Amino acid sequence: MSSGGGDGAARESFGSSRGFILAAVGSAVGLGNMWRFSYTAAEGGGAAFVFLYIALTLLIGIPIMLAEMAAGRSGRLSPIGALRKAGGKGWAPMGFLYVLSGLLILSYYSVIAGWTVRYAIEAIVSGFPADSGAHFTAISTGPAAMGFHLLFMGLTMAIVMGGVEKGIERASTLMMPALFVILVGLAMWAFTLDGAGEGYAYYLTPTWGDILDGPTFAAAAAQAFFSLSLGMGAMLTFASYLGKDQNLPKEATIISFADFGVAFIAGLVVFPIVFALGLQNDVSESTVGALFIALPGAFSEMGAGRLVGSLFFIALLVGALTSAISLLEVVVSSVIDEFDITRKKATLYAGGLIATLGLASAYDTNILGVIDAIAGELFLVIGGLGLAILVGYRMKGAREELEMGTTPFFKVGLDVVFFFLRYVVPPIVIFVIYDRLMNVINVVQTTWFAG
Ligand code: TRP
Repeated sequence: MSSGGGDGAARESFGSSRGFILAAVGSAVGLGNMWRFSYTAAEGGGAAFVFLYIALTLLIGIPIMLAEMAAGRSGRLSPIGALRKAGGKGWAPMGFLYVLSGLLILSYYSVIAGWTVRYAIEAIVSGFPADSGAHFTAISTGPAAMGFHLLFMGLTMAIVMGGVEKGIERASTLMMPALFVILVGLAMWAFTLDGAGEGYAYYLTPTWGDILDGPTFAAAAAQAFFSLSLGMGAMLTFASYLGKDQNLPKEATIISFADFGVAFIAGLVVFPIVFALGLQNDVSESTVGALFIALPGAFSEMGAGRLVGSLFFIALLVGALTSAISLLEVVVSSVIDEFDITRKKATLYAGGLIATLGLASAYDTNILGVIDAIAGELFLVIGGLGLAILVGYRMKGAREELEMGTTPFFKVGLDVVFFFLRYVVPPIVIFVIYDRLMNVINVVQTTWFAG
């Protein structure tokens, strides 16, 4: 095992703090923001949910993100090595859990991203088909779905092979600003639609009672984990490519609010469109279905639908790609560090394995749903709890690590962060773990053992 990269070379690094922030925002902003957030918000109390979500971002999101960053930058290693170094040998298995989560999440994430590739291409080439439901059923599984999944994995691997600065940083620096501009443009356009008012009302009407409901609370917390890319070492890995002069508390704050901002704006795009065409009933069926059925259905009926829809799916694709990069990088950097092989080989092996695993989700969306419930929710919250305990109680020098490169304002904030990591994050996350475990059992039962 070497402490640096493959071939004993010096560890790679980001070229600038802006590049790091964009890559981390790129990781956070993805399929989770563009649909799941607004959908969960609408179902879970509207504006009340938005407040709850912001509170959870502050209470558990930022502290866990900082815990990941502290372990990553101080170890300058990928998850397995970094956790071993921060906590001792006994913590290495958690690093393996992280790598496993990365493998599993990317395997199905890439299938959904593959649908997105297809929709973006079709929108540009031929427009949206009138019967969007039948279209989705036809393309979501089977050989075509597998083909687009493999295409997307190929794209992701090509970027990760380019390395941290020339691959990941460059791709994010080009793509993230474009995504943001497209999304704001779409939100402004959506504002002019006839159903906009109703759409906003559906999205944001506060029902405060809903957020006191246990499952809503747990769903919000799990959504925050997924959306902020926490609990499986993505932020840890990116931070391992940083210098000591970076102001981590400030950067974690920027990343978290950028992620929330994009999710919030996406809702301002989605709901006016859905309500302008009276498609609200299609929305409540399933989260993924709504994104790939209700919206395309709306695009097929609107005058500007083809242009707007093309832009929407391009933005979605960009978000998915920068997120997939970070998922793959966790696995690749671990393979590089543990087996001491080149980045190119590591990317081929890890990417090839993930691409193969993903065929199962492209074959049957029930498999996709089950893996999402297990790895995309349960594993992440388990990983987050472990990290809070490791950095809050055990790791030496975590506080000093986070103070390096920061300002007095954020130093005061760190007192709060460590208090939260010790006393606030664990009880909340234990409740969420329980809730998500029940959800996994429920999903498995209704998928395969119903009736
Ligand atoms: N955050 C991304 C999204 O919202 C998905 C993602 C990327 C992710 N990297 C991750 C989720 C690491 C959990 C862990 O779509």
